Amino acid sequence: MSKKLVLNAFLMSTGHHEASWRLPESDTTAYREVSHYQELARTAERGKLDSVFFADSPSIFGDLARRPSETIEPALLLSAMAVVTTRIGLVATASTTYQEPYNLARTFASLDAISHGRAGWNVVTSADLKASANFGYGEPPTHAQRYERASEFLEVVLGLWGGWRDDHRVADKAAGVFTDPSRVQVLDHVGEHFRVRGPLNVARSEQGHPVIVQAGSSGPGIALAARYAEAVFTAQSTLEDGRRFYAELKAAARKAGRNPDHLKILPGLVPILGSTVAEARALEQQLDDLVVLDLPLAQLADDIGIPAEQIHLDAPLPDDIRPSSEVQGNRARYELVVKLARSEDLTVRRLLLRLGSGRGHRAFVGTPEQVADTIEQWFTGGAADGFNIMPAVLPSGLEAFVEHVVPILQRRGLFRHDYQGTTLRDHYGLPVPAVRAAELAEVG
Ligand SMILES: Cc1cc2nc3c(=O)[nH]c(=O)nc-3n(C[C@H](O)[C@H](O)[C@H](O)COP(=O)(O)O)c2cc1C
Repeated sequence: MSKKLVLNAFLMSTGHHEASWRLPESDTTAYREVSHYQELARTAERGKLDSVFFADSPSIFGDLARRPSETIEPALLLSAMAVVTTRIGLVATASTTYQEPYNLARTFASLDAISHGRAGWNVVTSADLKASANFGYGEPPTHAQRYERASEFLEVVLGLWGGWRDDHRVADKAAGVFTDPSRVQVLDHVGEHFRVRGPLNVARSEQGHPVIVQAGSSGPGIALAARYAEAVFTAQSTLEDGRRFYAELKAAARKAGRNPDHLKILPGLVPILGSTVAEARALEQQLDDLVVLDLPLAQLADDIGIPAEQIHLDAPLPDDIRPSSEVQGNRARYELVVKLARSEDLTVRRLLLRLGSGRGHRAFVGTPEQVADTIEQWFTGGAADGFNIMPAVLPSGLEAFVEHVVPILQRRGLFRHDYQGTTLRDHYGLPVPAVRAAELAEVG
């Protein structure tokens, strides 16, 4: 098999399970220690994984009372991880709704320079409506408004990143010429949302520019991904759903005039591993027993538009819930949650526990061999180009994956034994993008 799996480790404080911090093994201060994250990056690199990733929101996202919710700014954190590693890709979320394109282009170009071409930007329109209150908005911008701004935002960022030819540096000490200004472009963007002159004050890296990742699965999210994304994070809970999403997005990329192989689709997978099925189930049970359901229930009540007192934990989700077209935040996730509850006939309690273990991503409880089987089935069955691995508990879940699942995938010829290149584009199998304009205008 020539096509290789992409494996990204989605990192989050003490792990993706809501109650991971309550396990006896968990260090409740590690989530704000750079050494914790540097060690995770080293572990991922030891396993020859493609990349590590941090989600982000410019707000306190999630349940402050019930889990570690502080977030160190992820691009800063990744730059500290870049200096203790040499290969692993470094992907962070940043919002097109609550940033300016010049600042964002600069931050990620800087991470790409620091890491010699290992950076990726997960483009989100920001699902958390509360974030808008931190930026002076009266009403949060609607789903449609956020995506409209996102398209223009991406054009500006790509324009800024593409403004430097790779041979710009002359560094002729004798002649006293450092940069050839004719090789650096002014952008002069004037649009509905942004006016940006450029050029950016950071040039391209070894991989051209950071890899564009996208994680919205609604209609506008898919349209944006088809045009721009080089990797897509998505939550798909069944093989059938995964195949449908994969086919739809690849077709949309083709229709947008792109090579669909240059868009990697990475569903989330929450492995809960044990050396036997019983051991894995015991770990899951231990975690679920530690979940406190009051706030997730309040959140669910808010999402579905029914007061928490009227929802019974041991009954199915009520019928008369809000239609997804009325959801302004994370619409794709809302649809996934409702579908999960209905298709598996879950009680509200089971639903909340499933969400607590990975927020709707596919949780997999079993042995390394079984997890490898699932990965292989999705990869060879047209549902994934790889996975977004979301360990339920950190660091132990990532260590278990690297030590026990990766070698099985390597033995089966599905995953690399060593890195073939140095940049994130090398790992994902993506081309280096061309400088944007054929004829570069002088900086002037
Ligand atoms: C794996 C994964 C990671 C995500 N990370 C973030 C994130 O860091 N910040 C955020 O605001 N939304 C995040 N999202 C949500 C989406 O990117 C998007 O903002 C949200 O889904 C709204 O778009 P949609 O309605 O098109 O799905 C993530 C989604 C997935 C599947």
